[in-house]
Amino acid sequence: MTRKKGAKVVRSIAAVALGTLTLGAAQAAEKVKVGLMLPYTGTYAALGTAITNGFKQYVAEQGGTLGGREVEYFVVDDESDPAKATENASKLVKRDNVDVLVGTVHSGVALAMAKVARDTKTLLIVPNAGADELTGPLCAPNVFRTSFTNWQPAYGMGKVAAERGHKNVVTLTWKYAAGEQAVGGFKEAFEKAGGKIAKELYLPFPNVEFQAYLTEIANLKPDAVFVFFAGGGAAKFVRDYDAAGLKKTIPLYASGFLTDGTLDAMGGAGEGLLTTLHYADGLTNAKDTAFRTKYATSYKMQPDVYAVQGYDAAQLLRVGLDAVKGGKLEQPAMIKAMEAAKIDSPRGAFTLSKAHNPVQDIYLRKAEGRDNKLVGVAEKALADPARGCRM
Ligand code: PHB
Repeated sequence: MTRKKGAKVVRSIAAVALGTLTLGAAQAAEKVKVGLMLPYTGTYAALGTAITNGFKQYVAEQGGTLGGREVEYFVVDDESDPAKATENASKLVKRDNVDVLVGTVHSGVALAMAKVARDTKTLLIVPNAGADELTGPLCAPNVFRTSFTNWQPAYGMGKVAAERGHKNVVTLTWKYAAGEQAVGGFKEAFEKAGGKIAKELYLPFPNVEFQAYLTEIANLKPDAVFVFFAGGGAAKFVRDYDAAGLKKTIPLYASGFLTDGTLDAMGGAGEGLLTTLHYADGLTNAKDTAFRTKYATSYKMQPDVYAVQGYDAAQLLRVGLDAVKGGKLEQPAMIKAMEAAKIDSPRGAFTLSKAHNPVQDIYLRKAEGRDNKLVGVAEKALADPARGCRM
């Protein structure tokens, strides 16, 4: 009886305190409504979660606000399904009235989101999807990206593969924008350096029945293989490549998504793989050290490139919100500030190109244990060519 009464008193004190707090925040500032449209199921589920964690970590570091505003989240699992993308994004904009869309991982889904963003003049920050078009022919004042183009890391790998003496490469990936454009970036740098692509192999997204392709690679006997895979599918691919005996005979290269956040699930099969990406384990900047320590404490796991991109999406939004203080979310003022932003990222500070895509170092990394250890810089301050962007 007494204990129950005690609990009630504690609860009501907490309620009063909470009421005061909420009132204080409401008086101090407007809200910003953030629509998180990300995959929380399927082969890219872990990627969506890492982006969400990173975004929320930055907001938490600002005391739960961005640019002095309370952040209200509206969350949709987009399942990495382009067929559902327009409806999902429209719901966030029209029903929930979000001020900004943040998403997504899958290039095909992001292209549909960008169309909704353009049609409704909603601010969009892309924290992963590399679709070259978003900061190419479909670039727009209200569309920003804190991640990469599919071309960027793959271009870095094409150069590295040629430098390592390979002449004749087979590529394998999922047949959709991300895979095709990664192969395009690799091919551009590799051929420029005198290499040849012997064959481009494709399977539908998100299939993981790799056996027939591995048999074909074994028959073709190229100098090396380049792939784009990510998430759960990447772990399965590397395990299969190793089990087929190919890892010992034909070097495997990839955009670093292959091994980011997936090394544990590879159970050792990823050891020694060389990849290129705009993030690495073993960077020595102070921002990365602080970011990683906090991430490990908050989420009981190590961050990866996706967490970094989510964190930086929140940083970029904050720059926009700071420009309008507590007042109306005037897009021209926000956009102007965001275009000029220098983001103090755990990957190393970066600025945005005219097309709103990061200009960033592409690191060469080697998988060692649970880490993608920094080996060197494959491309310094690499800007996507942004072909077709008129802005
Ligand atoms: C993409 O679809 O653009 C994509 C997905 C997963 C990645 C990278 C790019 O890790």
